[in-house]
Amino acid sequence: MRSLKLAAVAALCVAVSACSKDGGSSSEAPADAPASAPTPASAPAPTDAEKAAALAALPAPYNTGDLSNGQSKFALCRSCHTIAQGGPDLTGPNLYGVFGRKAGTKAGYSYSDAVKAAGFVWDAQQLDKWLADPRGFMPGTKMTFAGIKNEKDRIDLIAYLKVETGYQPAAK
Ligand code: HEC
Repeated sequence: MRSLKLAAVAALCVAVSACSKDGGSSSEAPADAPASAPTPASAPAPTDAEKAAALAALPAPYNTGDLSNGQSKFALCRSCHTIAQGGPDLTGPNLYGVFGRKAGTKAGYSYSDAVKAAGFVWDAQQLDKWLADPRGFMPGTKMTFAGIKNEKDRIDLIAYLKVETGYQPAAK
């Protein structure tokens, strides 16, 4: 379903040949729209070409991550987490925008004291340690997940999450 929609968007982009140059910034937005305006729910999903460009722009080793393996590893998370912008909190918080966000600060979600007190900002390094062994990394968390022991699987999943959750590399 989603891939059909992506394919349709990609086809549209090819037709107008205007979408894939800028790495996903909203060149369609009216010039007078404030930069901080909330993205409308109907904002087009990134095309596959934009996702490939976003992947290539990640720091190593994530730039060579396997997005389809990352997507299949995300199956381990999706019973508890959504990743789409504006998606609901489930057992765990929605993860859109998690990179660069201070741990335990997604508005409207009730975290454990352990995560609230963590005091760091999520980046790939912290997420790698968290995903390897959540309760070893942060005793007291209520995320009951055994962890992903395979390092390559974590790299692929983190690359996938960066591409899917609106991560923006530091300004060029
Ligand atoms: C059984 C449910 C469950 C599963 C499966 C799960 N999580 Fe979680 N996750 C949670 C809960 C609950 C929290 C909140 C933890 C707390 O407050 O202690 C959380 C928190 C997080 C956070 C911190 C978010 C923040 O805003 O600070 C991240 C990142 C995260 N999970 C990623 C993942 C990823 C990636 C996976 C899959 C590999 C995953 N989780 C699998 C339940 C789950």
